[in-house]
Amino acid sequence: MEKMHIAIDGPAGAGKSTIAKSIAKKLDITYIDTGAMYRALTYKVLKELIDLNNNDIIINIVNKTTIELDKNKVFLDKQDVSNEIRHPIINNNVSKIARIPEVRMKMVEIQREIAYNKSVVMDGRDIGTYVLPNANYKFYLTASIDERAYRRYLELKKKGILASFQDIKNEIINRDKMDTERSIAPLRPAQDAIIINTTSKSIKMVINEIIDLIGNEGK
Ligand code: DC
Repeated sequence: MEKMHIAIDGPAGAGKSTIAKSIAKKLDITYIDTGAMYRALTYKVLKELIDLNNNDIIINIVNKTTIELDKNKVFLDKQDVSNEIRHPIINNNVSKIARIPEVRMKMVEIQREIAYNKSVVMDGRDIGTYVLPNANYKFYLTASIDERAYRRYLELKKKGILASFQDIKNEIINRDKMDTERSIAPLRPAQDAIIINTTSKSIKMVINEIIDLIGNEGK
């Protein structure tokens, strides 16, 4: 099989990771959750009580940190932090870390290295526009803000984390704003991306839509 790169971008709560994971499984290729990498670094910065506005210290830290993805788990300096990085406190701070150019350079380097010699489904904000501009397929998933907030609300509730719908909605609005307005590799669809609005579509419907578009090429 030729190397196949599938980029899946979009705002928070659009269903990217669930869909990307499932597509990778169906095609039997690697899934790369790039958001998890920014989350892991944010976890470290918060844990070490570093001032989120002190770019110099954060840049120094990123250069001394190892972030690895293995079988849908995230390892920060060899420690599994897959659960910790999903906490609301990370959601509220990750975009501040992700807008630092030097942080992005390091993450993108790791992401491109993983994709260099293998087929991947990679999800994030800048995959189609920046990380893998020559991806075979680019999808940009969106959904209404209420739908996205509600999905996050249910996801957190399932994990036993209680948060108010309005707080989640505000957090997503703020995060999207920061991700869209940052100077380097902001969130936006690539010119050649296929845009899929997932509002009132089930996860299964979107997966089937994407698999149909990819056809048999990925098999
Ligand atoms: O996909 P996610 O919600 O786990 O992403 C968390 C944050 O990480 C997101 O709000 C912005 C940042 N991010 C990014 O800047 N670039 C990416 N490719 C992926 C995530």
